[in-house]
Amino acid sequence: MRLTIVGCGYVGMALARELRRHHSQAQLTLTTTSEERRGELEPLAERVLICNASKTDELYKALIDADVAVVCLGPKGDRQVDAEGYRQTFLDSLNCLQQLLPKLPKLKQISYTSSCSVYGNADGGWVDETTPAQPRDEHSAVLLDAEQLLQDAAAIPKKRVCILRLAALHGPGRDLDQRFQGLAGQTRAGDGQGFTNWIHVADAAGALLRSIEEGWSGVVNVVNDEPIRLADLVDGVLRRQGLAAIQWSGATKQGGCNRRISNHRLKALGYELRQPTILGQRGVLEVSQVP
Ligand SMILES: NC(=O)c1ccc[n+]([C@@H]2O[C@H](COP(=O)([O-])OP(=O)(O)OC[C@H]3O[C@@H](n4cnc5c(N)ncnc54)[C@H](OP(=O)(O)O)[C@@H]3O)[C@@H](O)[C@H]2O)c1
Repeated sequence: MRLTIVGCGYVGMALARELRRHHSQAQLTLTTTSEERRGELEPLAERVLICNASKTDELYKALIDADVAVVCLGPKGDRQVDAEGYRQTFLDSLNCLQQLLPKLPKLKQISYTSSCSVYGNADGGWVDETTPAQPRDEHSAVLLDAEQLLQDAAAIPKKRVCILRLAALHGPGRDLDQRFQGLAGQTRAGDGQGFTNWIHVADAAGALLRSIEEGWSGVVNVVNDEPIRLADLVDGVLRRQGLAAIQWSGATKQGGCNRRISNHRLKALGYELRQPTILGQRGVLEVSQVP
């Protein structure tokens, strides 16, 4: 297998490590836009290329020999970028990929990390891959447009496309204890009763790996078993650190996006989650579970 991971950040690197463990014979190319990251990526791959995916010649070089491409792009840097930044990262790159596809006869499988943020509000109800996407902001609208570009690619004969809609990521380096400890004892807007949806980075990488191994196609939600109300999550995380709970102001927040995202298709494809729940121990949740 000749595989290129375009955009090798948090998820891309987790996948690269999985590939090293399970497919030591795979010829792996990783891309980065910055020379400084070469040293970090080189131990994981046969080849590291500097590639801005919105530059046709650079993307072509990264994909010319690949039979599998995993596209794991995200805007560069730690700061939030505006919708225009999203367009540049996602749409310019995927437009470029789309134009190149006729020149990439070896490429059979494209696995792409999108986001569950394309789903709209469902007032706490369940949504799945058949639910029409309803982006609630410009950023999510860009992600849906990016998916559409890939859906068009799926119509090309002999190209299989799998769009993996990831829930919010957690895992080493993005752990919840650190993320929430600054909230201890604070009063926050809203009632905290909206559902949040999560996936551990090991499962994001695990699902990507299976999409490659088994040639998945279409849209697949990559989300754990247990959507969790924001208040339960934050309280559970603060409590296990011995920190003070949050007070909620009580008023329902306007414009929220409250839905539980189903992973039935992921399960039907045979994927077994390594981290089925975000807090890891159901007991932590049960104490404060809101009916
Ligand atoms: N993070 C989440 O909670 C979350 C939730 C749902 C869905 N997702 C999806 O998963 C994707 C990957 O997430 P992540 O957390 O792994 O992101 P990340 O750590 O920010 O990594 C994204 C990588 O994309 C690369 N990149 C940026 N612009 C590029 C360009 N023009 N050409 C080529 N490469 C470019 C960057 O490479 P260099 O820095 O090496 O140059 C960066 O390492 C997200 O973008 C999103 O679609 C993420």
